Amino acid sequence: MNRPFLPFPARIALLATALLAATLAAQDPQSAPSAAPSPASAPAQSEPAPGPAGQNAGAPRPPREYPAPTNLKVLPKDLTGAQVREIMQGWAGDLGVKCDTCHAVDPKNVGPNGRPRLNYASDEKDEKLMARIMYQMWEVDKKDYVARVAEMDKMDEPAAPLTCGTCHRGHLDPEKYTPPAEHPPQGMENMPGMQH
Ligand code: HEC
Ligand code: HEC
Repeated sequence: MNRPFLPFPARIALLATALLAATLAAQDPQSAPSAAPSPASAPAQSEPAPGPAGQNAGAPRPPREYPAPTNLKVLPKDLTGAQVREIMQGWAGDLGVKCDTCHAVDPKNVGPNGRPRLNYASDEKDEKLMARIMYQMWEVDKKDYVARVAEMDKMDEPAAPLTCGTCHRGHLDPEKYTPPAEHPPQGMENMPGMQH
């Protein structure tokens, strides 16, 4: 484990940089370091990594600018570009997909790396339209139903909030849940037909 030729903080810094680059590349084809306007000034959107990498990164850079959204139909219309980004990264993570699962490429808009960029405002893909419906369902579930149960449940520890990931768990299509056969539901062990 202990490799003498690299001091420990330097190894952590290397690791943090590699992780950050991998995360950016995985989340968003357009902000992959190769596609960023000036590769030297990535990272684009995350807070500085904690630890030595963040401390040694030099003067803080201004946050990257994201264009204001032009085609929001279900999200609050006053969200900034950066706020929309953050929500989108959450959805992509919750569903285990990348941005291009819901957003169509724009063949006429080719980035410096030769790959076409995504047209985020376009409503071409069904996945985007389905995600809008899902968002509306989630909003009503959260406000009108989950909140009412949470209100009655306030003696307990607050439960995890309802997110897309509550159901999707890293899958575009939520997986079927099958209770493990070897464990009968709690409290039913002694009911007729439940002996194992
Ligand atoms: C599960 C589908 C889905 C995924 C994955 C997704 N988006 Fe979106 N995105 C949407 C939907 C739906 C809207 C429109 C929301 C609305 O109508 O209020 C949207 C809107 C946007 C907008 C605003 C466009 C405009 O001008 O109105 C941007 C920018 C955007 N997404 C970026 C991203 C990025 C970046 C990623 C990847 C990190 C991503 N999206 C992943 C579904 C998705
Ligand atoms: C209460 C559970 C639940 C929540 C919360 C939920 N979904 Fe879903 N979602 C589903 C189910 C179930 C399906 C499958 C519907 C079908 O095709 O039968 C689905 C399907 C989808 C699909 C279509 C997948 C495909 O096959 O192309 C998208 C996109 C999607 N959800 C996005 C979202 C987003 C974004 C959120 C959060 C804003 C969200 N969902 C929250 C249960 C949920």
